[in-house]
Amino acid sequence: MRKYLMAGNWKMNLTPSESREFAKQLVSSIKDLPNDVLAMIAPTFAALQAVGEVIKGSEIKLGAQNINENESGAYTGEISANMLLDLGVEYVIIGHSERRHIYKENDELINKKVLFALKKGLKPILCVGELLEEREKGITNDVVKNQVINGLKGVDASEMKNVVIAYEPVWAIGTGKVATPEIAEEVHALIRKTVVDLYNKEIADNLTIQYGGSVKDDNVDGLMGMANIDGALVGGASLKADSFKRIVKFEK
Ligand code: 13P
Repeated sequence: MRKYLMAGNWKMNLTPSESREFAKQLVSSIKDLPNDVLAMIAPTFAALQAVGEVIKGSEIKLGAQNINENESGAYTGEISANMLLDLGVEYVIIGHSERRHIYKENDELINKKVLFALKKGLKPILCVGELLEEREKGITNDVVKNQVINGLKGVDASEMKNVVIAYEPVWAIGTGKVATPEIAEEVHALIRKTVVDLYNKEIADNLTIQYGGSVKDDNVDGLMGMANIDGALVGGASLKADSFKRIVKFEK
């Protein structure tokens, strides 16, 4: 059965020294998780080594915020799968809305990254989500469905056990405007249905679909109570030990 994945995306926050100290706090407070709950943190690349050392042997897994789609070579400023693996990274966030919108990553590139991460044995978290204007135009379902279909192009059924999808409505990221559990659930159900159509019901039932966008300690329980919401990808509230701990230890 699928698990909840409660993940902190630290974005471009915390220096390596700050990250190390913060990770120490998290290790001492995030433990004894139920069998169906996983915790993950994704620090900046520069802090992966320091954080990896601190969380080794703990219940917290290591994630990265991006990856390059090539093996190695002349890609200034990029980071490869082998580099991430060498640092103990298990998950990699791909196609985050900040990558899509600020750095103009398109579905084709995102799909290449997903395929390459899987080939290397990393677990991609494929991010999808509509802009406010797309929601207002009533095209949310088409936008999200296309992002899922294009992001998973060429992914073999046997690899789907290593894939996570994160639904992050762009209008809810960093704005304090969380999608209501009902609004999020509707899109999560659509994502799962899309995966049934692309693969089959068993694969879709085992897929973890996270919600992201202004998740806080005071709204996480309602979101996690929905049938198709299996975890959270948390930005701002993952930078405070107490709130992240409460999010990871949500109550349904
Ligand atoms: P916030 O939780 O700060 O809205 O960020 C969400 C996000 O983008 C996580 O990837």
